[in-house]
Amino acid sequence: MTVHAPSPHESAALHVSGAARYVDDIPVPANTLHLAFGLSPIAKGTVRVDLDPVRTAPGVSLALSAAETGFVDVAPAAHDEPLLAEISADGAACVHYMGQPLFLVAATSHLAARKAARLAKVDATPDNPILTIDDALAADSRFEDGPVTWRKGDADTALARAPHRLTGRIEIGGQEHFYLEGQAALALPGEGGDMVVHSSSQHPTEIQHKVAEALGVPMHAVRVEVRRMGGGFGGKESQGNALAVACALVAARTGRPVKMRYDRDDDMTITGKRHDFRIGYDVGYDDTGRVLGITFEHLVRCGWSQDLSLPVADRAMLHADNAYHLTDVRIVSHRLKTNTQSATAFRGFGGPQGMVGIERVMDEIAHCLGKDPLDVRRVNFYAPAGPNDAGGPSAPRASRPPEGISPRAKERVGSEEVTPGTGADVASRGALHEVAEPVEASDRAAPGDQTTPYHMPVRDFILNEMVDALEERAAYRARRAAIDDWNARHPSIKRGIALTPVKFGISFTLTHLNQAGALVHVYQDGSVHLNHGGTEMGQGLHQKVSQVAADRFGLDISAVRISATDTGKVPNTSATAASSGADLNGMAVRIACDTIRDRIAAFLAERHQADPAAVRFEGGKVTVAGEDYAFPEAVQLAYQGRVSLSATGFYKTPGIEWDRVRGRGTPFFYFAHGAAVTEVALDVRTGENRILCTDILHDCGASLNPALDIGQIEGGYVQGAGWLTTEELVWDQKGRLTTHAPSTYKIPACSDRPDIFNVALWDAPNRADTIYRSKAVGEPPLMLGLSVLMALGHAAAACGSAYPALDAPATAERVLFACRRAAE
Ligand code: MTE
Ligand code: MOS
Repeated sequence: MTVHAPSPHESAALHVSGAARYVDDIPVPANTLHLAFGLSPIAKGTVRVDLDPVRTAPGVSLALSAAETGFVDVAPAAHDEPLLAEISADGAACVHYMGQPLFLVAATSHLAARKAARLAKVDATPDNPILTIDDALAADSRFEDGPVTWRKGDADTALARAPHRLTGRIEIGGQEHFYLEGQAALALPGEGGDMVVHSSSQHPTEIQHKVAEALGVPMHAVRVEVRRMGGGFGGKESQGNALAVACALVAARTGRPVKMRYDRDDDMTITGKRHDFRIGYDVGYDDTGRVLGITFEHLVRCGWSQDLSLPVADRAMLHADNAYHLTDVRIVSHRLKTNTQSATAFRGFGGPQGMVGIERVMDEIAHCLGKDPLDVRRVNFYAPAGPNDAGGPSAPRASRPPEGISPRAKERVGSEEVTPGTGADVASRGALHEVAEPVEASDRAAPGDQTTPYHMPVRDFILNEMVDALEERAAYRARRAAIDDWNARHPSIKRGIALTPVKFGISFTLTHLNQAGALVHVYQDGSVHLNHGGTEMGQGLHQKVSQVAADRFGLDISAVRISATDTGKVPNTSATAASSGADLNGMAVRIACDTIRDRIAAFLAERHQADPAAVRFEGGKVTVAGEDYAFPEAVQLAYQGRVSLSATGFYKTPGIEWDRVRGRGTPFFYFAHGAAVTEVALDVRTGENRILCTDILHDCGASLNPALDIGQIEGGYVQGAGWLTTEELVWDQKGRLTTHAPSTYKIPACSDRPDIFNVALWDAPNRADTIYRSKAVGEPPLMLGLSVLMALGHAAAACGSAYPALDAPATAERVLFACRRAAE
């Protein structure tokens, strides 16, 4: 069984032996040029640049500013990001952040280019930069005309009537991606204006699009290849555009191959990071801690250009409820424009920040009522999905029989569901998301119904049961009691524990991105070569998709090969993002494989005068009317019989629709869930702290590959913990990012992972009809790291009786101050 079984990453052996090739490892022709950018020394103002000393430096063949290139756009959507700072009428460059590329230099080596870039004579006239959230608010510096507001019910009335009320705010820092492989690109000019680009990108089609646009050629003249990335984490959704476009421009001008890679300091100085947020809340609640009315204000620091900030800020709003049913709620989101790096996608895409807001609220309510935060979380949970329906009150619509699946959907996903361990009751719930209900007309949810703040019915909520199981497994109550006891007896070392849930929406919120393509070839020897639109960044997507292909043909995984993602093989792809890589591409591959399989079956069935539906592909054999053929033999016969052994597959996610302006609709195909218990210890004299023990229960549906999924969960949790504790981005008053290297920016080390780290899968099939009923796993586990922040808050609270109101990242200093606040 290849699907649902643990197997190693397709490149594991190459990774550990150093043989896996990244862009920088591709052998380049001898005449290759290497690029470096010259960067702005100020955050805002104008800069005059004299490039003569650069042009005459050793090894340099070319130096260009926007005076020579004109406006070349590298923005993913808004056309607001010039490759090189724009030149005003008086010849000076207008800059928007410190580190913005002013010019590029092409030289015979990477080092020569970098050295030459330092030689430019730069005369800067600084202006007052807008750096912080407060600066931006004061200057009303923002994207879009004003804040975005979504609402459900009547928050103001509910707040006014609530027996208890509290207000507060939390600061949430950004995060550097710190992918091990920095941004890189290599452009190889071909004949007749063609260009091949190798890029470390999550989004090859966008690289193709931006390069074609910059060169003024059709997209067919540009082919982009991505074999793998050494990590992307969202930082390679749009941030690779500049390098690829720069390389292609110089390659087109010189006819020479051109390569560029950022050194680590440049990478951190130039590229965007996770958005930092300030979240204000005003909440009314009852004696049990149940939230009656709530308003959130999201202040989002977006940086100098739009990049992906609007959908990121949207996703933060979409996760302002996390796992909690909020009846009367208003969320206001300000997208602030600042003279800093343009903040971009980062694992969770705003979702994590939105969740921090509501988790803080749960924690503070519990503190005010003197309750265990877990009890407050529980009373606010969405109601569970019933055992025999797709979730509570909307059962009648959801328990439609399988015939409810539209014929077109059947055609797309195939009519048979080969899902081991999936009972018929589950299959009958497959229709769940096919029913695209119109959103409610009024702001009031019907009594007994439960919807998110964006009016989407919640019918597949499983956290009640999951949290029961985790609470028991982690002995949460007993440990909390033991910790309280410890804290009463120990003045200097305090311990803390927290259980936090995650409910994360799966799908791109830009609905049209929820599509994928695949190309599958079966060769005469029975080996299978396939391509799909997704990219490999370490998450194991190629392994999962290969498992799907192997399973469809009944082959061992070794018979299947995925080559580099290539815009010439599968066109018009979406970024590998939103955790949907396996969901989308796995389906497309399944459809392509089934097309070929059905052709082989039809051909062999005819020879045997048998029913094509009775032909079996299993264990490397094809069985027709009681006779076995080895798969290569069957393929050889089909080839001789002139059967096409190549096919494309195409998939689009059904049943989603979304109105982002009104904040209404069904943006997600389903939700992925998880919960974590973290125990920490801290030294109240220094704020130093560490994670002692972590227990996680995470929902991957019927996991395609439990080994890879556990890897994603462990990595996501640790990355989330790093974001909320030690990873601190600091800009000085002039807008210089002072934490631009590993010496000053602290990601978790191996030794920072919990000593006791128990990760288990909640192994129940997805109720939505996904590939083998699995669930997306790429981003959701990052948010399990919230339990670390909450556990630190619990430990700090033991220093006194005031609420410690711990901000993120909870560095040793912030923890120390939180301890003091609690003691006041
Ligand atoms: N895991 C590794 N090892 N490296 C990465 O760069 N990126 C994350 C997640 N897990 C990432 C990762 C992000 S931001 C996303 S959106 C998903 O993987 C993308 O891949 P998927 O859609 O195939 O899960
Ligand atoms: Mo992931 S932030 O969607 O690339």
